[in-house]
Amino acid sequence: MNLNINSTYKLNNGVEIPVLGFGTWTLKGDGAINAIQWALEEGYRLIDTASMYNNENEVGTAIANSNISREELFITTKVWDSEQGYEKTLNAFEQSLNKLKLEYLDLYLIHWPRDKFLDTWKAMEKLYEEEKIKAIGVSNFTIEHLNSLLSHSNIIPAVNQVEFHPFLYQKELLGFCRKNKIILEAYSPLTKGKKLSNKTIRQVSEKYEKTPAQLLLRWLIEHKIIGIPRSNNKEHITDNASIFDFSIENEDIERLNNLNENLRAVNDPIFK
Ligand SMILES: NC(=O)c1ccc[n+]([C@@H]2O[C@H](COP(=O)([O-])OP(=O)(O)OC[C@H]3O[C@@H](n4cnc5c(N)ncnc54)[C@H](OP(=O)(O)O)[C@@H]3O)[C@@H](O)[C@H]2O)c1
Repeated sequence: MNLNINSTYKLNNGVEIPVLGFGTWTLKGDGAINAIQWALEEGYRLIDTASMYNNENEVGTAIANSNISREELFITTKVWDSEQGYEKTLNAFEQSLNKLKLEYLDLYLIHWPRDKFLDTWKAMEKLYEEEKIKAIGVSNFTIEHLNSLLSHSNIIPAVNQVEFHPFLYQKELLGFCRKNKIILEAYSPLTKGKKLSNKTIRQVSEKYEKTPAQLLLRWLIEHKIIGIPRSNNKEHITDNASIFDFSIENEDIERLNNLNENLRAVNDPIFK
């Protein structure tokens, strides 16, 4: 697999999505603008935000300050729980777009599967048909949620963004998404830092002369999954993009696969 930071996968509607992105949860104010600017300079083109992160303004400012053409960027935001429902979603979308200072969005996601997600999805389908969004998808959807959505909708979600790393290796969900042409995007790919000093992760990363974070991100690449690591540290932002000059041997991929312990750094969609 000869990939680099400009490489993309094709979504089920033909739109291209970068193989690596930049997460922005908890980033705020000038710190957020700086971090996104560093990420853009480093070559990241996918920026992941959400109306709940309260930083769409900062994301928009960082984009506007960059000299990167709009077509090169891939901007994702998400509709929050309190914004779900048909009319509310249409309004929330306009608000997000305004804050981001954009004419269109690349990817709009339902942040969590709440009671009104089918109505929310109808609004997203409308926005998609009006060409205000290049692709629509979901986040934190289980197989059950996806089955319900697939049987009640016209458009198959392009993406399901879920927590995914070796300690939460959701193999069945991955298989289901593949079968249904839904690309899986991994959030908290670095376990929010919780497992970066795990013994196996340390040992295997040393073998490849890489950092634990780089190993975790490369493991996603080996599984053809998009990772969206977050950092406000310039060095980490650079490190996390330097994952295209090595690959993990099958036996080590297997070792990492076997680390699954259903660990959730964020909430379980079943209980939240
Ligand atoms: N859809 C959803 O419900 C959902 C939920 C959670 C997250 N997300 C998205 O996914 C993104 C990533 O997930 P996340 O923010 O939860 O956590 P994460 O990316 O797994 O971990 C972030 C943590 O790792 C540290 N870190 C980053 N690079 C590092 C490196 N090279 N070496 C050592 N430490 C490093 C960061 O600290 P420093 O800042 O010091 O580098 C930060 O504390 C979010 O920002 C958000 O965009 C979506």
